[in-house]
Amino acid sequence: MNILVIGTGYVGTTTAIVFAELGWHVTGLDTDAQKIDQLKQGKLYFYEPGLEELLNKHLQSHQMGFTTDKVKAIQENDVIFICVGTPSHADGSADLKYIKQVTEDIGQIMNGYKLVITKSTVPVGTQEQVVAWIQAAQLKSHPFDTASNPEFLREGKALQDAMNPDRIVIGSNSDRATNMIQTLYQSVKCPIIVTTPKTAEMIKYASNAFLATKISYMNELARLCDPLGVNIKEVAEGMGLDPRIGLSFLQAGIGYGGSCFPKDVSALIQAAKTNHIELHVLEKVVYVNQTQHLWLLSKARERLGDLANKKIAILGLAFKPDTDDIRESPSIRLIESLISEKADVYVYDPVASLPANSHFKSIKCCKDMDEAIDGADALFLCTEWSVFERIDWAEMKAAMNQPNIFDGRNVLDAGKMKDIGYFYQGVGYS
Ligand code: UDX
Repeated sequence: MNILVIGTGYVGTTTAIVFAELGWHVTGLDTDAQKIDQLKQGKLYFYEPGLEELLNKHLQSHQMGFTTDKVKAIQENDVIFICVGTPSHADGSADLKYIKQVTEDIGQIMNGYKLVITKSTVPVGTQEQVVAWIQAAQLKSHPFDTASNPEFLREGKALQDAMNPDRIVIGSNSDRATNMIQTLYQSVKCPIIVTTPKTAEMIKYASNAFLATKISYMNELARLCDPLGVNIKEVAEGMGLDPRIGLSFLQAGIGYGGSCFPKDVSALIQAAKTNHIELHVLEKVVYVNQTQHLWLLSKARERLGDLANKKIAILGLAFKPDTDDIRESPSIRLIESLISEKADVYVYDPVASLPANSHFKSIKCCKDMDEAIDGADALFLCTEWSVFERIDWAEMKAAMNQPNIFDGRNVLDAGKMKDIGYFYQGVGYS
């Protein structure tokens, strides 16, 4: 089986490289010629540990290739993964225009049996629309199957997640399609869930929404732990050892971000509304997340008073470490609030950068940590890059104007920071 991956964004490129690594011949197709040229040269246009090496390995062995020629690509491959973006409409619902475009192309161009698998995160029921779009676009009748095979890749850990998944979900009404997908993943050892397309689509949304709920629950609880003098990190440990709860995703902080959680939770809420159901819990999950950075900011105001003209150092822009992705990053939300309070904001991130946007023109983007911290009245740690945990804090203290640390990720040792002479405030941890 030859695999075509349509859409060489983050998910598509990772999927293509991983299937090449699993031994399949893979072609990546995109309408963006610049992106395709770059990939052909073995260059990733996003940061993801380990992926560029594999890209080059498989380009050199001709195990994979990239193209903008959709006719050739669709006709020469029998398995097609759809990995195009599903951006949000203004109301938070998913916009399926790229899925529609791609499926219509497949319908028009196909010249024989095709298995069309949706990997993009799509609302429940999309598979039925995919079938209808392909059928409506077909110039000549050719057999095809469709399936849903959602991705669960974490940015920064995509390779690890793709090669060692917790589970593979296959949503299909066709035995032929299910068998083909099982064959594609035959060298991967993990449980495989075979279900209906709708259930597969829901499993993806339900998983992300549940993880987001865990985080917002801990974040809100952390706000209560603060006045009670309780350490949320110890609470998380005490809770997480119960296997029904689990230790992961209990880390309180300034909120979740990224391209998935915020978008998927909103899309699920909107899908519910369309069905006249209110997802009250998830609506509050969003509310807590959108206000979490303001809680930490209020702590800074309590300590420093008016923030206007105070030098504030921000360490970390990315929504999490090991990625350059700043989409929906809580660090950006915090910076926007600081701009409106007229603070002097200096930012540093080892990989990510602010968009060249007039909105951020007052922000000083620093080449190193020292420049950001020098003379600062307060420091906000917003992304838990490991390099920040290795900082010589005693040395940094001497460089700051006032030694105030607001740890938005609860990664520093509060006791140690206090011993050095800092005012330290974490999120439910101080
Ligand atoms: C997520 C899902 O984990 C993945 O399965 C899905 O397919 C895509 O969305 P990703 O967006 O890459 O992956 O990031 P993830 O590691 O899940 O973290 C999301 C956000 O939650 C980050 O901003 C992170 O800092 C935050 N987070 C995570 C917390 O605030 N606390 C935690 O305990 C865990």
